[in-house]
Amino acid sequence: MSESVLASGAARVFTAIASLSALQAVGYLFLGVVVGLLGTWIYLYPYSSIVSSSRNLPGPPSEHFIAGNLLYLTRREHPRPIYQAWIDKYGPTGRLRGLMGVQRIYTADPVAISHIFQNADQWPKSKSTGIMLRRMLGNGLITAEGTDHRRQRRVLNPAFSPRAVKEMTPIFFDKARSVREKFAQLLEEPTNEARVLVNMDTLETHENGGPIDVGLLMEQATLDTIGAAGFDYDFATLFSRRSELLDAFHSAIKAMQASALVSALQNRFVLFNALPTPGQKLGKASRATMNRVGDRIVAQKTQAITRMGIEKDTDIGTADLLSRLIRANMATDLEDRERLTHREVQAQICTFIFAGSETTGVALTWALYRLATNKSMQDRLRAELVTLGEHPDIDEIHGLPFLEKFTREILRMDSPVPAVGREPASKTTLPLSRPVRGRDGKMIDAVTVDKGTEVAILIGNVNRDPAIWGPDAHEFNPDRYDSPALASVPGVYGNLLTFIGGPRNCIGWRLALAEFKIILFTLLRAYELAEVPGTELRSETTLGIMRTRSNHEGLVVPLLVRPVGE
Ligand code: HEM
Ligand SMILES: *[C@@H]1O[C@H](CO)[C@@H](O)[C@H](O)[C@H]1NC(C)=O
Repeated sequence: MSESVLASGAARVFTAIASLSALQAVGYLFLGVVVGLLGTWIYLYPYSSIVSSSRNLPGPPSEHFIAGNLLYLTRREHPRPIYQAWIDKYGPTGRLRGLMGVQRIYTADPVAISHIFQNADQWPKSKSTGIMLRRMLGNGLITAEGTDHRRQRRVLNPAFSPRAVKEMTPIFFDKARSVREKFAQLLEEPTNEARVLVNMDTLETHENGGPIDVGLLMEQATLDTIGAAGFDYDFATLFSRRSELLDAFHSAIKAMQASALVSALQNRFVLFNALPTPGQKLGKASRATMNRVGDRIVAQKTQAITRMGIEKDTDIGTADLLSRLIRANMATDLEDRERLTHREVQAQICTFIFAGSETTGVALTWALYRLATNKSMQDRLRAELVTLGEHPDIDEIHGLPFLEKFTREILRMDSPVPAVGREPASKTTLPLSRPVRGRDGKMIDAVTVDKGTEVAILIGNVNRDPAIWGPDAHEFNPDRYDSPALASVPGVYGNLLTFIGGPRNCIGWRLALAEFKIILFTLLRAYELAEVPGTELRSETTLGIMRTRSNHEGLVVPLLVRPVGE
């Protein structure tokens, strides 16, 4: 076809479009969208059932023509029990339907998971998660892939070393004391929220102390800690100061949650990104604020370090993660192509807030809740904690055996991140150590996975696997670590999958443990905790992080608190 014919054809189409009335245009547009969706749907549902390489895997029938088997996402339910039912019925590896019927695989098979973690380049983060996180956090350590990731990780590693974490312990103690003060303040003058929350009339006596929403307080405590330890920034959320950076960050999260289904569709299908939803706009505005504030923080830190000289590394005000990163990035033995760009350095700020606050906050909330519901366990832990002085160093804290066992058991049972998603960069094979029976009746010991098929790695289910922890795997029992596990798990810490494993393991795991233990140490020595009669805790997930909540909006976990020995 000659160009002129094409041009005249195009001109005719344009004239035709121009001559349509607005109403007709909308009509055609609508029709186009419907045909497009229908086509996609047919392609993903009936067609993929014939051509997908993993089609023989067993699994549940689709539950919804758009949401597939992911209804729990829209209901914000915790995925662990739902996947457990599928594991029990179909085996530790299976397939299900994602949005619009996309084929997805889930696995709780330790060998398959180890294979994925070790081959991180072949198994990057799933596209949907990647897009969502990159929009919110920029190109930081969580979102970078391949050589970008290796370069960032190399410069960031020293900031998270055991020595660096040890040098940050004064920051953790400082924030832990702030939470303790906040407890005292709230007991003096309980907030109206706490009173409404607990319904004081149902409490027969006040002998057990006053109500405190530990869910909210642990969220604030861990945010304040990551502000200080991450980039020497005082959020002071515990004392209700407002911060532009944090407001923007929370709006970005809200933008993601605006509608679980719409944003999930946007993350999966580029087409939907063109929709100017309120969530998109909010996300953009908060991204702009985060960039502006982030630039300012990086500039201030860089100045301070340049003034002081890059060799000094433990001065007050530059012991934080970002200062350590900036210093490492300036090091003379680094080649230019190995350095992080300004944008990448700045992206770590929101990365630290996102990765390092709510995760630890949720673990602490579960810890306090479990201690409140088991008085003898609480007394046993406190008896151990009071054997140390007021301000021990981190090695002494790590030397407390029951605190270590309790911490591991919280991170096993209440893993703050219940699952992570990966998808192969090209068609590949996934080995299984626990074969499953295929739809054709034959056993499958290796699955072929197509490029782009998402695999959900079920951290929470592996952590509670009876083949690893014995028949009482579903019970909370810190003493289980007195005997060795039945099988090993490909994770960096405690034979658990909580911080995952391989080159993309949680870089902050040592920091998280130190912070968790120090806050618990400080609070438990000063306060006794008891359950509020009649409250029931349930967990849910948003953005892949487990939250706890009773029956109110927000992260709400009321406990009764009173000073020790009163
Ligand atoms: C109990 C608390 C925590 C838990 C359970 C946790 C869990 C995890 C998990 C499961 C991942 C892997 C995510 C994925 O690859 O899909 C991860 C990665 C990461 N975490 Fe944590 N985390 C915790 C605390 C922290 C803290 C305190 C920081 C400090 C800033 C942090 C920083 C990071 C970063 C930067 C990554 C990305 C690492 C990479 O891809 O190289 N985390 N975390
Ligand atoms: C409380 O915890 C202890 C472990 O310290 C355990 O032996 C006991 O069974 C637990 N009690 C309840 C009611 O769960």
